[in-house]
Amino acid sequence: MCGIIGYLGNHEAAPFLLDALRRLEYRGYDSAGIATLNHGKLDRRRAVGKLVNLADLLVHEPLPGKAGIGHTRWATHGAPTVPNAHPHRAGRVAVVHNGIIENFRELRAELAEAGVPFQTETDTETVALLANHLMEGGMGPVEAVTEVLHRIEGAYGLLFLFDGEEDLMIAARKGSPLAVGYGVGENFVGSDAIALAPLTDRITYLEEGDMAVVTRSSVEIRDAAGQLANREIKTIRIDSARVDKAGHKHFMAKEIAEQPKVIGDALRHYLTPDSAAITLPGEGVDFTKVNRLLLVACGTAYYACLTAKYWFEQIAQLPVEVDIASEFRYREPPITEGTLALFVSQSGETADTLAALRYCKGKAARILSVVNVAESSIARESDLALPILAGAEIGVASTKAFSCQLTVLLILALEAARQRGAISAEKLTELLGALQGLPALFNAAMDSNALTESISADLSEVSDVLFLGRGRMYPLALEGALKMKELSYIHAEAYASGELKHGPIALIDSHLPVVVMAPRDSLFDKTISNMQEVMARAGKVLLISDAAGIAEAGDGVWQSVEMPTVAPELAPILYALPAQLLAYHTAVAKGTDVDQPRNLAKSVTVE
Ligand code: G6P
Repeated sequence: MCGIIGYLGNHEAAPFLLDALRRLEYRGYDSAGIATLNHGKLDRRRAVGKLVNLADLLVHEPLPGKAGIGHTRWATHGAPTVPNAHPHRAGRVAVVHNGIIENFRELRAELAEAGVPFQTETDTETVALLANHLMEGGMGPVEAVTEVLHRIEGAYGLLFLFDGEEDLMIAARKGSPLAVGYGVGENFVGSDAIALAPLTDRITYLEEGDMAVVTRSSVEIRDAAGQLANREIKTIRIDSARVDKAGHKHFMAKEIAEQPKVIGDALRHYLTPDSAAITLPGEGVDFTKVNRLLLVACGTAYYACLTAKYWFEQIAQLPVEVDIASEFRYREPPITEGTLALFVSQSGETADTLAALRYCKGKAARILSVVNVAESSIARESDLALPILAGAEIGVASTKAFSCQLTVLLILALEAARQRGAISAEKLTELLGALQGLPALFNAAMDSNALTESISADLSEVSDVLFLGRGRMYPLALEGALKMKELSYIHAEAYASGELKHGPIALIDSHLPVVVMAPRDSLFDKTISNMQEVMARAGKVLLISDAAGIAEAGDGVWQSVEMPTVAPELAPILYALPAQLLAYHTAVAKGTDVDQPRNLAKSVTVE
């Protein structure tokens, strides 16, 4: 949510900033802007909408200077307009911000009383105005920023530049991620490693409350107490080449297609080469001491948790509670003895998930996370972080991260089952073998691509879609509906198919497509009965099943999409693919912005 970049060096800053903002655009795309120092003189350019608009503006109105800060915005306070775009400037100060300053109204009132005029509706402008006001009162930049950080409340990644200070950039972090990158005669600041990767491979992640005073030749980090802090410099290995579309039309298409490979990577990481055993990193997890598992996440990661509940309860006989992080964090739920708390997050920076994790610290027996970004806050603050190894995911709607989250969660459930004696050796061997076959099944399932594309042409004409699933397929129906609405802006809802007759059946008519996700498993007959109830009311059914399921129940359906036969426990992972393809092709048919759907952002670092 909002991307930040800063450069201090001996080359022109604007091209570096623009290039890095391109890699950060997944964090928000309501507006973009950069500010530079040209021989000590501060100037800025800002444009509403996608980064390309800022790039166009810079062609006509170049911005010279060898120091600069940049920002791509996901609007929180104030509409996406040029005045509300970052960098915000007040007198000698320019600032970019990711997060929310919660007490900005109080500070604003205070500054207004002191006669300071406001030009925007944003919380961030208050930061610039306050810093400038303090500097006008005689403080130097470092002193002023230190004071600002004492006064502001909320979440922030902040980066400042000062008129007249050609060799200075100040960064501060609380609640929103920020990293410093080290070069030779140049230094960088960025929201994440993806932004910095092509610029340097030496990075320090700022800790909560840190402030970094950056010059071309030095980086001085102070902790929340103002003490000099010695933070580790890590060598990162993010291959910047991965952050391209590799010949695909969209990042989402590329990321869907990558699933066989990345699921294979995850399997290699967690299973021995002969698939005979599971290997967890570090000390692993002692599930024999766990009597309750708590799963907390947001968005697609939440649906991965809902699916995992079926696995942990059915296979490992372990009671599970699943919660949406934004609800969990404020409900003050009691954490009983023997509770293992597990947080699932692609970015590892989602504000609500991170807050939920912090709530559990010191209360739960152990904090586990399943993350994609290994250096993220959630990973770093967990007792044990289990990587999903999906690689950089750029498309705002999560695809390969979801299937990798599911893969890792199923492996964890199998390990819990083994330790708790809830699964026979034969069944475990069978399921581990089935898992090894998953990448090949994903490849085979891609055969449905052309058919889902033609079905999607029809779906793009409708205004509502209903998804139904039962048992393990119910969370996947929810994920299918989420994907459809976020990408194509078509209203989509999902129900547990047994709930159909408790309300949603009233919606059924010949215009409402109903997507039924039903592999031929032990609940198939029940789901198909619900499907028949839809068809008896002239409903238009799209059945996603395997060959046996379609042969048995495909008569009279509007369309059917055949999936390869898969072990029932693994079906929710494989059936993610047709759900993704339907949403993708419907969005393409409608002409919506597939990789950057309106109003969304990939990394939600504000509440
Ligand atoms: C946003 C993204 C979703 C993602 C959710 C949770 O809404 O658009 O794709 O599932 O955040 O993000 P996380 O990084 O915690 O998995």
